[in-house]
Amino acid sequence: MKVDVILGLQWGDEGKGKIVDVFTPRYDIIARFQGGPNAGHTIIFGGRKFVLHTIPSGIFHRQTLNVIGNGVIIDPFILFREIDTLREAGMAPEENLLVSRRAHLIMPSHRLLDAALESDKGSSKIGSTLKGIGPAYTDKYGRNGLRVGDITGDSFKLRYDQLKSEHLEIVRHLGFDYTSHLLDGLDFESYEAKWFASIDRLKGLKIIDSEIFLNTSLDEGKRVLAEGAQGTMLDVDFGSYPFVTSSNTITAGVCSGLGLSPHRIGKIYGIFKAYCTRVGSGPFPTELNDADGEKLRVGGNEFGSTTGRPRRCGWLDLPALKYSIMLNGVDSLIMMKADVLDPFPEIEICTDYKKNNEIISGFPYDLCDEQIQPVYNNRKGWNSSLEGCTSINEIPAALADYIDFIEREVGLAIDTVSIGPDRLQTLQR
Ligand code: GDP
Ligand code: IMO
Ligand code: MG
Repeated sequence: MKVDVILGLQWGDEGKGKIVDVFTPRYDIIARFQGGPNAGHTIIFGGRKFVLHTIPSGIFHRQTLNVIGNGVIIDPFILFREIDTLREAGMAPEENLLVSRRAHLIMPSHRLLDAALESDKGSSKIGSTLKGIGPAYTDKYGRNGLRVGDITGDSFKLRYDQLKSEHLEIVRHLGFDYTSHLLDGLDFESYEAKWFASIDRLKGLKIIDSEIFLNTSLDEGKRVLAEGAQGTMLDVDFGSYPFVTSSNTITAGVCSGLGLSPHRIGKIYGIFKAYCTRVGSGPFPTELNDADGEKLRVGGNEFGSTTGRPRRCGWLDLPALKYSIMLNGVDSLIMMKADVLDPFPEIEICTDYKKNNEIISGFPYDLCDEQIQPVYNNRKGWNSSLEGCTSINEIPAALADYIDFIEREVGLAIDTVSIGPDRLQTLQR
């Protein structure tokens, strides 16, 4: 068997959590391959809403195993807060959750470092979620990191203390007063105490060699789905650098983040919103700083699932979408949040970028170049509610036209259209 992949094609928050949850009944195993608690994946069903940060979005289906892969970075405090929220809702997430021994740990001092580095950047800050992502991946690649498999070792505390004192030295050097900085409402010492209590609880989870487990499961005919976090435009190599996250969010990340050969990659689903959003700093060619942008934000409830920050909103960006499709080798497209465009009599789609009045061919190296301007194609909106549509045959002609136009432009079929946040508001074409 091969591993199917679902990942985001824009700047994150495309609706990956919802679709992974909808697709889970088709799979035996769901596996996260990168990122960490910077992710916020929302799942809504039966009138209840859950936001997952570290746990894969298949957790609500008891018969499906959920793997936190080696490419993920884990803050045990945040992981157990999630587990406890699910337990309070009557679930038993420990039963179907497996954690890779090779996944790296985010330490409390990684979070301090994240805050100190961001504050030092001043107006050029990335707009990080401040979950310690950059510093934890830096230690991983700098070969200093602590891994889940280390927590039972004798030298764990010693290595923790060494690394922490190095982090604090940098924090102090940057002139950052960490004594008054709160981590999720807690001072550093309180957070650290809870972090260590969570490390103890982590020892009780099912810790595995996930690369062996996943390869063996595929050999045995099990169906596996890899769940991406963030989006292609936040990929550390191909996103709008430096305004990116610190992992490979693209299909290639599945291989290194789960220990699977490229031969093992099966169907690749790419998710995009019918428009665009971005949270944090960085270039966004189709951003709307006007009433239409506000209409998208309010209509789409575009506020960060992890930080609550208002998301920046704009029209669909086809040059970026095509670039993402190429990088990921997408086989099938999933378009989200079509309903948010309901109240628009007219919709713009960016078909090209131009600079000095000339169309740019290919995708620009530096999206931060302020000379880059979007070229728009104007489409008629459907200007009516999609609520109540239960099959793709019931959608308004203008939405069918919008879908056809995108398919022609990108050369790929949109097989799934989402028209609301609930599991049930999903149309197959
Ligand atoms: P993820 O990070 O890719 O999983 O996406 P998020 O959960 O951060 O953000 C997507 C948001 O859109 C969540 O609040 C979802 O509940 C919501 N959502 C998902 N699909 C739809 C849809 O088709 N229509 C609307 N209106 N909301 C949706
Ligand atoms: P999901 O999985 C949207 C953004 C941050 C910031 C940049 C770097 O929910 O789609 P980081 O904390 O990774 O150092 O932040 O990346 N970012 C996201 N934006 N959705 C996400 O995840 C994101 N994870 C990180 O806002 O601009
Ligand atoms: Mg999100």
